[in-house]
Amino acid sequence: MGMPIAPVFEDTLEFDPVTAVIKGRLPITRYLADVQAIFADQNACQQMLAENPLLYSVTQIEDHDGAGQIHYGLGILMPGKVGREYFMTKGHLHAWRPAAEVYIGVRGRGMMLLEDEHTGACRAAPLEANRIVYVPGRTAHRTINVGDEPLVYWGILSSEAGHDYGTVAERNFRLVVVAKAGKPMVMERSDYLQELKHEMER
Ligand SMILES: [Fe+2]
Repeated sequence: MGMPIAPVFEDTLEFDPVTAVIKGRLPITRYLADVQAIFADQNACQQMLAENPLLYSVTQIEDHDGAGQIHYGLGILMPGKVGREYFMTKGHLHAWRPAAEVYIGVRGRGMMLLEDEHTGACRAAPLEANRIVYVPGRTAHRTINVGDEPLVYWGILSSEAGHDYGTVAERNFRLVVVAKAGKPMVMERSDYLQELKHEMER
């Protein structure tokens, strides 16, 4: 008769799919003041800054570096809007441009904006519980919560990918996701800015 073999917990982590807490690890947090420039409606943004809500937090696991290794992170993005634009992440490209990424929806209802760096072609994909979004290389990506509960998701990518936030900070995304009659609608940022301008003039 053999002896029972105890499982080894080294290289495993415990996470909570509701709160997106990974046991023993600390998240990076982003409040509205940290990301205010990404939102089109700057008047609405200024008004919200008084309460400066938490928009999202991400717990990055980067324990293994180098060729063939993987980094991953668990994100939680709160529900809410700045003006009509839903809460969203800053978005980024990968420093190593060919690096793709897989996003796995755990909880909630959201979308991702995927914008090809060179062609500028931009599309919106659903990111929600039990759905996977493949983010190809050379594609700027941003997560948006269009639901009324927190959006929780994993992102898994090469340890060599790295993050480039600066390029996206300069150009933002071509599309926005805004509420229209209570439902999420994807539209050109330039059109939304025009609408805001007209509302101001009225
Ligand atoms: Fe990424």
